[in-house]
Amino acid sequence: MKNIENRSFEIYIKTKIIFGVDSRFRIGRILKNKNYQKVLICIDKNIIKLKYINEIFDNISGEGIEYEIYDGVEINPTIMMIMDACQKFRKYNFDCILGIGGGSSIDLAKGISVALTHEGNIYNYVSEIENQKKLITDAVKPIIAVPTAAGSGAEVSPVSVIVDQRRKLKTGFFSEYLFPLVAVIDPVVHTTLPPKTTAECGLDILSHAFDAFVSPYSNSFSDALAIKSIEMVFKNLKSAVFDGKNLESRSEMAMASILGLIAIYAGKGGSTHTIAEPLGGLYNIPHGYACGVALPAMMEFLLSDCSDKFAVIYRNINKSFNPEEEDEDLAKRCIKETKRLILDLGIDPPWKEISNPDIGLLSKYSIKHMAVDRVPREITRQDYVKLYEEIFGKSYF
Ligand SMILES: [Fe+2]
Repeated sequence: MKNIENRSFEIYIKTKIIFGVDSRFRIGRILKNKNYQKVLICIDKNIIKLKYINEIFDNISGEGIEYEIYDGVEINPTIMMIMDACQKFRKYNFDCILGIGGGSSIDLAKGISVALTHEGNIYNYVSEIENQKKLITDAVKPIIAVPTAAGSGAEVSPVSVIVDQRRKLKTGFFSEYLFPLVAVIDPVVHTTLPPKTTAECGLDILSHAFDAFVSPYSNSFSDALAIKSIEMVFKNLKSAVFDGKNLESRSEMAMASILGLIAIYAGKGGSTHTIAEPLGGLYNIPHGYACGVALPAMMEFLLSDCSDKFAVIYRNINKSFNPEEEDEDLAKRCIKETKRLILDLGIDPPWKEISNPDIGLLSKYSIKHMAVDRVPREITRQDYVKLYEEIFGKSYF
């Protein structure tokens, strides 16, 4: 499968990244310099009262810029939420949309931007290859992303992951026009993120980087970013979870998030996500949690084909490896170490959340997932059935 043709890639990242401690205080000036006078802020109502968030609001109004707030964001945002926001705010002519929050807020900001600027039914713009009827154009409102979590990488991605609640299916919008214009990444803002969410978001990063690294389309560009991102997650995620005010760990995780997303984009990966997204769409569980439970199963499935890559990962996360050991042994250690990390973070297997999983439907969604050809070994619907049975089995982990 791996050949020279697979290594060709295109990458275009439009987003200006402003990264650093206290960069939140630059947001008002960024908007002002672009001559924006009225902005829509798309935010989760659970974080709206936090000190750092209010500092952002004050910073924006301090520059004389008006804003309206849409706070209907929830995990796994839906097309209904986009329609709700449009109904409330269509009458305003916003200059741009700020997504403040985790991936859900930023993804929803992107979806709202499409709906406010494109004619007709929003479902026509959904990016499923066979169903997308209309293309997203450059008419979208500019998006400014202010992530409050290190995880989804939505701040530097051209994707908006949205649930089609009619089918309980994760789908969304994909277009180069959906890259945020600016991403303001201030790790100080991340220090208030609760431990459980920090852990889940961190496992989303690990899955992006892992999926990129094992992808049949990976290349030296994506490999470099992926391996660095994996290394940073193993080094910093536990301290970000259990010592949330640790600015060094928060900063490293915020950086790992960007690297992981660009890696999966450039390396055209997605193995773990063929399981995590159906799980999230059907059972409304956080995406990072779904990644955390999907990752070990996918690693076991890929072990025989990817032991050389797993060995590379292990050598990078555990510098005291035994150089005499074969790749196969190091690869098994890599899986063990990944499971250990997930367990140490307190991620439980999903049978507590989902008592009666519909493995038939999950496997159907997985085999139809747009990233299924990015799994680096042939995979069938029956393989997915086995993977889900393993995930929901009592001996998982
Ligand atoms: Fe993800």
